Amino acid sequence: MSGIGSGAAEDPAPFPGEVRLRTTADLADPRLAPYTTLTDAALRRDADAAHGVFLAESSPVVRRALDAGHTPRSFLLGDRYRETFADVIAAHPGVPVFTGPDQVLTALTGFHLHRGALAAMDRPAPRSVTDVLAGARRVLIAEDLVDHTNLGAVVRSAVALGWDALLLTPRAADPLYRRAIRVSMGTVFRLSWARTDGPLEDVLRSLRAAGFATAALEVTDRALGLDAPGLEPIRTADRLALVLGQEGPGVRPETLAAVDAHVVIPMPEGVDSLNVAAAAAVALWELRARRADR
Ligand SMILES: C[S@@+](CC[C@H](N)C(=O)[O-])C[C@H]1O[C@@H](n2cnc3c(N)ncnc32)[C@H](O)[C@@H]1O
Repeated sequence: MSGIGSGAAEDPAPFPGEVRLRTTADLADPRLAPYTTLTDAALRRDADAAHGVFLAESSPVVRRALDAGHTPRSFLLGDRYRETFADVIAAHPGVPVFTGPDQVLTALTGFHLHRGALAAMDRPAPRSVTDVLAGARRVLIAEDLVDHTNLGAVVRSAVALGWDALLLTPRAADPLYRRAIRVSMGTVFRLSWARTDGPLEDVLRSLRAAGFATAALEVTDRALGLDAPGLEPIRTADRLALVLGQEGPGVRPETLAAVDAHVVIPMPEGVDSLNVAAAAAVALWELRARRADR
């Protein structure tokens, strides 16, 4: 792209669609509104909904979002990253590109944009549970998982280990919150997911009716060890839905009562639990869909 990297290094010529942010006075542009309150998850939830956006952070994550077909509304880049993003900008003519020095971007976003790149993207329309379950053989259910870092790590493992879909209860964190996306390394763009509505017990009943075996990953008295022979019907089920519990309280008693089996990752005496994302990674591998050719 002409202009990038040409001319004086400290003030390269702008490229099409570029708005150079030089002082905090330049931050009044209303198109920058999606980039404020980035460090507050609660405010972000409202802001993302109000603006109908999600934010992709870091060059690889922005590229994965674009590869997955998401529509950028604008890009925000540290000056140092202008050249490395030239191909992306050239591929999206007409999309505003805001660039600026670190201190101006920090004043806008509230944190140091050390990964250099953000993109505000149109938030996709929510999908229905029925839609994401179609053809799925392995479905993970995040019951009230409230931590975005945990959720991002769970998503990354689910995609890497071949699980097909993720259902989230209404209280669970947002998979398209900036931090969750980043921790997932953008794998969230490859995963079918939907929010459930109403009591999870009802959803589990519907899953059963659709031919799913149902299990909760939890430390309980009746839980079968992940490597126990008695778990074979769950391990080999053609369709399986697995519930993960909330950090702290774990899987709700009503949910534990509604599933076919409880599954525990055996731990030494005196150890209470694993982090939920670590537990998920272990269980998702062991309970993956087995195919004849593997
Ligand atoms: C951190 S745990 C919840 C806290 C746990 N109830 C306790 O008292 O330590 C969060 C979730 O991680 C999963 N989990 C953690 N360790 C596990 C284990 N050893 N076996 C099965 N699930 C586990 C379960 O889904 C659980 O609901």
